Amino acid sequence: MVFEKIMVGNLQLENRIVMPPMATAKSTEDGKVTDELVAYYGERAANPNISLIITEHSYISEQGKAHAKQVSISSDSDIDGQSKIAAEIHKHGKKVIAQINHAGSAASPAVTGMQPVSASAILLPGKPVRGEYVEPRALTVTEIKGIVAEFAAAAKRVKAAGFDGVEIHSAHAYFLNQFYSPLTNLRTDEYGGSLDNRLRIHLEVIEAVREAVGSEFAIAVRLGGCDYMDGGSTIEDCVYAAKVFEKAGVDLIDLSGGMCRFTLEGRDEPGFFQDMSTAVKAAVSIPVILTGGVKTLEEAETLLQKGAADLIGIGRELLKNPKWETFI
Ligand SMILES: Cc1cc2nc3c(=O)[nH]c(=O)nc-3n(C[C@H](O)[C@H](O)[C@H](O)COP(=O)(O)O)c2cc1C
Repeated sequence: MVFEKIMVGNLQLENRIVMPPMATAKSTEDGKVTDELVAYYGERAANPNISLIITEHSYISEQGKAHAKQVSISSDSDIDGQSKIAAEIHKHGKKVIAQINHAGSAASPAVTGMQPVSASAILLPGKPVRGEYVEPRALTVTEIKGIVAEFAAAAKRVKAAGFDGVEIHSAHAYFLNQFYSPLTNLRTDEYGGSLDNRLRIHLEVIEAVREAVGSEFAIAVRLGGCDYMDGGSTIEDCVYAAKVFEKAGVDLIDLSGGMCRFTLEGRDEPGFFQDMSTAVKAAVSIPVILTGGVKTLEEAETLLQKGAADLIGIGRELLKNPKWETFI
């Protein structure tokens, strides 16, 4: 099945292997694309085993910047640089989707010069990926609408830069994921409490992004569907969310962890999020990506055969070795 074609919205993918987003810190301090970054993507796009690259998280606003040398999509002046990445990947006949992100309370004040913002004034659970977390400020409803508009503006730039689609990042304890998880969303207004309320901002972002990019452009959501923590989001929540996203016009569901980030403690078997992806795949008709722990084409094939997902992400193996499984 690995080498079977599949449609994602109107996009035809030549096989079932995806390079998932991975931050490289190869941009300039102000988030501009460098030749080194373009070359990095070119090397991986040349790999015949992959059909789609989802590029690393681009920040949609200065306040949402996660780390130094993260790539930017926060300004129209970023379109030119981002278009070089899209063109380089297209040169190798591969499709490319750009991931857009706001870091929320995971943003570093040392980088942004601002107090972080989030659904609630609460520190993220778990170990910080880098540095120390700073307590964020809870957003007002007006400010939430402002961030929704920033996602839409960023998506419009992604389209202008020549990408084939846009991925909205709601995984790994970043901004949208902070609204989704009951561990970090303690709001008592229409954006907190029930799962429908915790998904409200997602639907607003999806609607605004769709409005910005038009009906033909592929929209993916990367959802950290389950926190794998006491009191956190569950696989049932994730199945419900995926159905809601499908109904809202999302073309692709890309699954990963929530507050647990992209790994699970003590687990490194191929497809360690397959309990989540299998349940989601059974509940929706749009394609589902499973990423985490897959090291070989054979492992990907086994997961596809057993119905764990429609597409398999290969992250760290491609990061280490652009010629992964090519035997060139
Ligand atoms: C260095 C590094 C950077 C990452 N950056 C991102 C990112 O920008 N956006 C994202 O959604 N996931 C990111 N991830 C998670 C990967 O997309 C993927 O889910 C993770 O590496 C697990 O897959 P693997 O076992 O195949 O590596 C990153 C992972 C690594 C190792």
